[in-house]
Amino acid sequence: MSWMEELYEHPPVWVTHGNGASFWDIDGHRYLDLYIADMSAFCGHAPEPVVRAVAERMRRGNQFLLPSEDAVPVADHLAGRYGMPKWQFTLSATQANTEVIRIARHATGRDVVMVFDGKYHGHVDATLAVLDDGVVQPEYYGLGRGATDKTRIVAFNDVAALQSALSSRDVAVVLAEPAMTNAGFLLPQPGFHAALRELTVDAGTLLAIDETHTLVTAYGGLGREWGLQPDFVTVGKSIAGGVPLAAYGMTDEVASFLRAPDDPYVVSGMAVGEPATGGTLFANALSLAACRSALTEVLTEQAFAHTAKLGARLAAGLRDTFARQGLAWSVTQEGSHAYYAFTPTPPHDGATSRAADDPDLRALMRVFMANRGVWESGWWLGPTVSVAHTEADVDAYVEVLAEFVTTVTA
Ligand SMILES: Cc1ncc(COP(=O)(O)O)c(C=O)c1O
Repeated sequence: MSWMEELYEHPPVWVTHGNGASFWDIDGHRYLDLYIADMSAFCGHAPEPVVRAVAERMRRGNQFLLPSEDAVPVADHLAGRYGMPKWQFTLSATQANTEVIRIARHATGRDVVMVFDGKYHGHVDATLAVLDDGVVQPEYYGLGRGATDKTRIVAFNDVAALQSALSSRDVAVVLAEPAMTNAGFLLPQPGFHAALRELTVDAGTLLAIDETHTLVTAYGGLGREWGLQPDFVTVGKSIAGGVPLAAYGMTDEVASFLRAPDDPYVVSGMAVGEPATGGTLFANALSLAACRSALTEVLTEQAFAHTAKLGARLAAGLRDTFARQGLAWSVTQEGSHAYYAFTPTPPHDGATSRAADDPDLRALMRVFMANRGVWESGWWLGPTVSVAHTEADVDAYVEVLAEFVTTVTA
């Protein structure tokens, strides 16, 4: 759990339980949760329908390494919601994106993976790279030599850079969030997604839209909201109420590359007929029961109407607070999710977002707010409401944030 310690610039609190919009620590303190576990608790803590579905599934057995009765209804539901006909399940979005990249490489016969500066798509080796003076470098220790040699990184919202990076026609897949959520909340500029789609098609490159975070902003994610037409969609985190499950959807054309080819290559007498996908616990009966319940009983269209209203209230509260204190801080928001940057204009790419940020100030803010019963998001994210939050919760959050802002500017 060492990575968990690194998430915060202070010791983490240890949790006993959660309910609705709050959780409690081992000392009995209650926290109103605006981090919602990096969006994975968007259903609220201990959502009743999921609790029931999980208990019921455990009673009847949870793991068979065979498809269970919920797999087809869940896949059908995802198809309708996210507009992709074919679905595969994993346990995390990291694993989903890993498989997306493998399928894309197999389908295109190319190696290069392109991502946007400031991205996070999970601990997928090919995406664990950063730009250092314009040169792609591994982001972490422990990656094999050459793990990121086939990774290309461009600035979000930079159509000219995108065009140039795709022009060599060696990119298998562009992996992108519809709006970037891991370096602030970076919205696409008008025309950016249309250009991204057009340029990837022209270059013979597949386009994967990662909605792991953004699926909380709108029913069907931002892809559906904005009419995007990718080749893959990744979802995860909250889709099973926080029970481990992720999934990726594909077009029929892309899914055809999962079929065994006519001429499989042979290793030690065994035919290797498909890209590497799957795992013992992937699509287990428990995760799928949780997911079916979360999708149909918790993450409903009405729930998204509720969280969108709360998100607008949250953004208005933030803007009002900053204006009253004479702070030229900008706020971006889509549905349930908001972000504030310490600059008058919202950052538009990873570099402007990093330059605008002040991690020490955010860390101070989190501790100040935690001491007043509010669990603020990590510095890279911004506050998000869950299905379980109320108007009173949003107002309570804004009140504590306003207290912080008033205190530090006094
Ligand atoms: C956009 C995006 N994709 C993928 C992931 C990886 O998700 P997981 O940690 O569930 O593998 C994350 C995690 O924060 C994410 O933000």
